[in-house]
Amino acid sequence: MAHGSLAEQLAAIARRVDEIAGADARQLEQLKTELLGRKAGALTTILRSLPDLPPEERRGAGQQANQVKRLLEEAIAARQAALAAAVRAVTVDRTMPGRARWRGAHHPITRVVDEVCAIFRELGFARVVGPEAETEAYNFTKLNIPLDHPAADMHDTFYLGPGVVLRTHTSPVQARVMERYPPPIRVVVPGLAYRRDPFDPSHAPVFDQIEGLVVDEGVTFVDFKAAIDYFVRRFFAKDTPVRFRASFFPFTEPSAEVDVRCQICGGGGCPTCKQTGWMEIMGAGMVHPAVFEACGVDPERYTGYAFGMGPGRMALVRFGIPDIRMLYQNDMRFLAQFVE
Ligand code: DAH
Repeated sequence: MAHGSLAEQLAAIARRVDEIAGADARQLEQLKTELLGRKAGALTTILRSLPDLPPEERRGAGQQANQVKRLLEEAIAARQAALAAAVRAVTVDRTMPGRARWRGAHHPITRVVDEVCAIFRELGFARVVGPEAETEAYNFTKLNIPLDHPAADMHDTFYLGPGVVLRTHTSPVQARVMERYPPPIRVVVPGLAYRRDPFDPSHAPVFDQIEGLVVDEGVTFVDFKAAIDYFVRRFFAKDTPVRFRASFFPFTEPSAEVDVRCQICGGGGCPTCKQTGWMEIMGAGMVHPAVFEACGVDPERYTGYAFGMGPGRMALVRFGIPDIRMLYQNDMRFLAQFVE
C-alpha cells in the first residue's frame, strides 16, 4: 500500500514537467526549489525516505524515483536553454504601434562654420578658438579701439565685472594668437560673440562669427582680395558677383566690407537684402600697424589681413531662412528640417 502511494506520488511529480515547460524564469526557479530543493524538495524528501522502505519495495521505488529525477532535470535544463535563447533573440511584434526614432543633425550654423573652415583649411588656415569672457584689453585696447569708442560703450557691451566683458566680436582672438605664435600666421576662429542688441530678424544678442587672420612678410591687399574672392566662389555659386566696399574698422587700414549678390532674389531686391540686391557677409581689411605693435609683431617687417564674417547670416542665405532668431530658439520643428 505504501509502495502504491509512493508510486502515485512520483507519477504526480513527473507530471509537473508540463509546468516546467511553460514556466518563465522566476517560476522555473520556484519549481526547482519546490521539487528538487535540497532541504524540502518533494522529490528530495522521497529519495531521502527510501532507506526506510522494506527491502523488497526499495529497489523498484528507487529506480522510479531516479527516473523521475532525471526527467525533471532534463526538463529544467531544456526550459532554461529556451528562456536564454528567447532573451537573445530580437523579437518583433508587428502588431505593436511603431516607435519613431529621433535622428540628430548638425545645426545649420554648425554646417556653415564647418564648411567655411574646411575651405580655409585647404588654403592653409588652422582652426583655433579663444575665450568668450574677455578682458577690455583684448576685446578693445589691443585692437586699437579706445575705451571711449562707441563700440566699447556700456550700451553695446555686456560687462561681467570691472574690466571683464563678454567678447563683442571674435577679433580679440587675433591678439591672443599673435602674442602666442610667431608669423607666419594663418588662422580661422569660429565662436560666439555677445552684444546688448535686441533680437530682431537680422540681429541677435548672442551670435556666431568666424574671424580670420593672416600675418606674414609681404602680404598685400591683392592677397587679401584673392583669398576672399576664392572663398566666396567656393562657398556660394562659382559665378557669384562679389564687391568690396570701403569701410572703417579701428583694427584695419584700409578696411572693407564684402558683399555678395543676394542669393535669395538674385539681385532684383527682396526683404532679406533690404531691396539692395547685395548681402553683406563680412568686414575685413589690412591689419592696422597699431594692432601689430600692441601684440608684439614688428609692423616694419610684417603685414597681414583680417576678416570677420557672420555664419548666422550666411546660413540664412544658404538655407533660405527669413529670420535669424530661428537659429537661436532651439525649436525642434524648425531644426528637424535640417536632418540630412
Ligand atoms: N570685428 C568686426 C565686427 O564684429 C568684424 C571685423 C571687421 C573683423 C574687420 C575683422 C576685420 O577681422 O578685419 O563687426
